[in-house]
Amino acid sequence: MTVQQPEKVTADLGAVPETALWTLYHRAVEARRPDTVLPDPKAVELVELIDYPFADRFGADGGLLGQLQALRVACFDREVADFLAREPRGTVVCLGEGLETQFWRVDNGRAQWVSVDLPEAVALRERLLPPGPRQRLIARSVTDPGWPDEIDPSRGVLITAQGLLMYLRPPEVRDLIARCAERFPGGSMVFDAVPRWFSRLTLTGRMRSAGYQAPPMPWGMDAGERAKLRTASPAVGAVRDVGPTGGRGPVGALLPFALTLPPLATRRPSVTVLDFAGLPERS
Ligand SMILES: C[S@@+](CC[C@H](N)C(=O)[O-])C[C@H]1O[C@@H](n2cnc3c(N)ncnc32)[C@H](O)[C@@H]1O
Repeated sequence: MTVQQPEKVTADLGAVPETALWTLYHRAVEARRPDTVLPDPKAVELVELIDYPFADRFGADGGLLGQLQALRVACFDREVADFLAREPRGTVVCLGEGLETQFWRVDNGRAQWVSVDLPEAVALRERLLPPGPRQRLIARSVTDPGWPDEIDPSRGVLITAQGLLMYLRPPEVRDLIARCAERFPGGSMVFDAVPRWFSRLTLTGRMRSAGYQAPPMPWGMDAGERAKLRTASPAVGAVRDVGPTGGRGPVGALLPFALTLPPLATRRPSVTVLDFAGLPERS
């Protein structure tokens, strides 16, 4: 008996949406390991389904990049899981979600899940990961001021921006943070940032490997600068760092400590949570 293989799906994306294949691939590489720090069978399934030269483009990763990437993703998963523990019917709004498979890692069966991405990325997601009854796709740029109108804030909102803000220009990042803080009182936003030195390397085309040139990342933020995010809007309240935990081998053991030492302490990739001020008490 011959087993019918599912038909492969072609991914022909522009440079910025294509970055979603890079993150997907590294999650899948890590998830295939028996000692993975981030089980993600859906990511493995997707990489097998997409007709794309993953290893030629992004390299046959030996494990370090996959683990670092997965530890970053796990920071987001923990924040989403904490939010859903507080607000089980809350809305998770994933800006620039690409082909992230977080829903299948952390869903509690009751949350609402909204994905906002560029139209070509949403079209591919819709084919590969058709939305279920609690999932919705919004095909718009996050810089479009209209997307918050499509979100129901009544059950609590957590906004995630994983691997997104670096592709925006600095004033766009500031406006996006201010808009989220002002439109979702009492909500929170979790996002990651590349340090300024890394952003500069991408702007001069120096982030390249044999098969791949990373697109420009105009926005960089050194971890030591995060308190300045409060100046984006008076509605931005607490600002906190989220650090990796639970790594494997020497990297896993040393990473949390290494990130506290200079120069990494202030000039490293970082994950940050912003809490937004709540609505004023009614008298
Ligand atoms: C590096 S990928 C990250 C994907 C996913 N969050 C993950 O971590 O696997 C960047 C994503 O941001 C999206 N993106 C970039 N600029 C955007 C914009 N202006 N509006 C909406 N999405 C954007 C891309 O299409 C892509 O899906």
